[in-house]
Amino acid sequence: MVNGKAPFDAKAAADNAAIAATLAALPFTAFGAGTDKGDTRAKPEIWAEKDKFDAGGRKMQEALAALNTAARGGNLDQIKAAFGEAGKTCKACHDNYRKE
Ligand code: HEC
Repeated sequence: MVNGKAPFDAKAAADNAAIAATLAALPFTAFGAGTDKGDTRAKPEIWAEKDKFDAGGRKMQEALAALNTAARGGNLDQIKAAFGEAGKTCKACHDNYRKE
């Protein structure tokens, strides 16, 4: 919808943004001590700089909360802006902490 590939559906946007905001709370506890083993794209810096990594996770959670608010407002331009901001928080962390 944000890219104009699907028609704007305010209810679907709000429902999906709510799910994303909920899921955003889940994964970061999974990067606990001792979870740096095995088949993973997670870089060792995650555990060496846990505070910075966690801060990146919180930024993403805040951005998805803002996207959720925008989606409930039903204004596509505001949703696009919030989606762009949320996407930056994903990319920032993947650039630093995820292997290619
Ligand atoms: C604080 C850091 C961080 C943030 C923020 C983050 N990710 Fe990730 N993400 C990772 C790491 C690290 C991995 C690799 C995990 C592994 O291989 O164990 C990953 C893996 C993934 C994967 C699994 C598939 C793959 O390509 O490895 C998906 C899908 C994904 N992220 C989507 C997202 C989306 C969408 C967002 C934003 C809404 C996001 N991530 C925000 C750190 C982050």
